[in-house]
Amino acid sequence: MAQTQTENPIRVDARLRHIAFIMDGNGRWAQKRMMPREYGHKVGAATFKKVVRHCGDIGIKTVTVYAFSTENWSRPPREVNAILRLLEEYLDKCENDREAQDIRYRFIGDQSVLPEGLRRRIEHIERTSADRELTLNIALNYGARDELVHAVNRLIAEGKQSVTAEDISGALYTADSPDPDLIVRTGGELRLSNFLLWQAAYAELYFTDVLWPDLSDQDVDAAVRHFYARQRRFGGV
Ligand code: IPE
Ligand code: IPE
Ligand code: MG
Repeated sequence: MAQTQTENPIRVDARLRHIAFIMDGNGRWAQKRMMPREYGHKVGAATFKKVVRHCGDIGIKTVTVYAFSTENWSRPPREVNAILRLLEEYLDKCENDREAQDIRYRFIGDQSVLPEGLRRRIEHIERTSADRELTLNIALNYGARDELVHAVNRLIAEGKQSVTAEDISGALYTADSPDPDLIVRTGGELRLSNFLLWQAAYAELYFTDVLWPDLSDQDVDAAVRHFYARQRRFGGV
């Protein structure tokens, strides 16, 4: 097959262990095609699987995706239900998908309000995939402020009188993942929308106008190249 890419294939190293994606733009992608927003979510779900696979292929160890925020409940019930249904379909598939056998699934967010059946399936898939190599954190009913409030309340319940930064990091939903090195937001908005506020302290941020369903492997590679072109100083000189 003809080589269409001029740059070398990407392979990441220990500087880039964790990429997080704000998967934004599904609704606009569908509306541009005179289709209902739900269709954008369906195509976006396929993009999500492809992007996770590509991240694994280039050597990323942890991928986090923002799938549904604590604020997204304010959308019309029809859209909310469509997103939750897609998630159920995804869970059906990932239990049997041979290509996904190296993925360790983790769900981050407040699961207490999710339907009982969904919660049980999440618990099952987290348990059965626990010893795999590529961690995929799926942020579902996730909000960073909500996460911090939960963390602090948990520490209070444990009897803490004062807390350290390590205590807080260790009480977050992401306790067993490193902080994200790179956060990619599609869809053109320049904001974090309540995503990983604590963990993003020193993350590099990459924004692209590409709408999530259109995000290609090459677009991911472009974000990764951008990351490597930056100098992370962590407050030093
Ligand atoms: C997907 O994009 C993100 C989710 C909340 C599932 P949107 O549905 O926000 O799409 P836009 O931003 O309206 O285009
Ligand atoms: C952020 O996108 C949430 C997800 C990608 C799940 P939104 O579309 O909900 O964010 P805002 O409303 O543009 O800030
Ligand atoms: Mg949006």
